[in-house]
Amino acid sequence: MRAITLKENGGIENLRFSEIERPKPNHGEVLVKVKAISINPVDAGVRRDKATLQRMLRPKEGEDTFILGWDISGVVEEAGSNVTEFEKGDEVFGMVNFPGNGRAYAEYVAAPANQLALKPKNVSHEEAAAATLAALTAWQGLVTNAKIEKGDKVLVHAAGGGVGHYAVQIAKSFGAHVIATGSSSKKDFVMKLGADEFIDYTAEKFEDKVKDADIVLDSISDPDHLLRSIAATKEGGKVVSIKSNFGDVHLNAAKARGLQTFRILVESNGEDMKQIAKLLGEGKVRSHVSARYKFEDFPKSHEQIETGKTMGKIVVVV
Ligand SMILES: NC(=O)c1ccc[n+]([C@@H]2O[C@H](COP(=O)([O-])OP(=O)(O)OC[C@H]3O[C@@H](n4cnc5c(N)ncnc54)[C@H](OP(=O)(O)O)[C@@H]3O)[C@@H](O)[C@H]2O)c1
Repeated sequence: MRAITLKENGGIENLRFSEIERPKPNHGEVLVKVKAISINPVDAGVRRDKATLQRMLRPKEGEDTFILGWDISGVVEEAGSNVTEFEKGDEVFGMVNFPGNGRAYAEYVAAPANQLALKPKNVSHEEAAAATLAALTAWQGLVTNAKIEKGDKVLVHAAGGGVGHYAVQIAKSFGAHVIATGSSSKKDFVMKLGADEFIDYTAEKFEDKVKDADIVLDSISDPDHLLRSIAATKEGGKVVSIKSNFGDVHLNAAKARGLQTFRILVESNGEDMKQIAKLLGEGKVRSHVSARYKFEDFPKSHEQIETGKTMGKIVVVV
């Protein structure tokens, strides 16, 4: 089968087109014939940097060639032993083994059945592949950790990107009031997703306009930005960071105002995938796929994700 492999960390040219053996599904796994793969900023981080690769892929000792990626949608080709939930021909999607070795940049992926969900019929493989790592991050941030409730005022940063565009829609599905940040080029897109207010971060300081958020979802790689998010949260509110770590300065500021802080790393979880599938099936959440690449053009997907300016999601069609 065709796969994209990586031997040495580095630039996009280090992604190699390879012919390798098709994996076999182990106990509890299904073999998925992949139709679409979605790309995330962490993919590029793992490609570039050895420490990030070790942290995210958790390779076995001696492993020296890697297949990146975690997000897939496809068709079950074969069910391994002890799999009762899915059978050959089922259309499934999910984030495979994150953190860990998803080996998703390939034509076939062996995936734990309990990390997948059935793809809703009204959603394409491209849209389903998109709604995996990014959508799960938004779900686990807002729902699992911050326990979002109807009427909450939720500040979603980077609302035009992969995680942000799902976070806006998930928050709205809970009946929250959503304030979104992004550059002006994302305003129309984000408002159409259902956001109630938009703040252009290049023109205004969000903490001047928002001081009473119940929940803030911060995805910006800047400790000072996280401090500003704390300032935008009301007493007793919650700050979820998916990027910057909370240092002493953040924790002290949060404690002084009785805030709860959550620094999360998304995790594979089939139950959460089913919640995402339900929202997609009901049309409450939609994937916006702004760019599609052919498998032959795989490296271009890394060029795009590294711009840091992606609108919605990008996918590779297999
Ligand atoms: N902890 C976890 O488990 C986890 C999971 C997923 C992602 N992440 C991290 O979260 C970050 C976002 O991921 P993603 O998939 O959403 O990335 P993405 O699809 O590349 O989107 C990033 C978005 O951020 C916007 N942006 C950049 N600077 C901004 C700022 N100062 N304020 C508001 N918006 C800004 C960009 O567009 P504009 O500037 O045009 O608005 C872009 O739309 C990445 O760093 C990623 O590694 C962490």
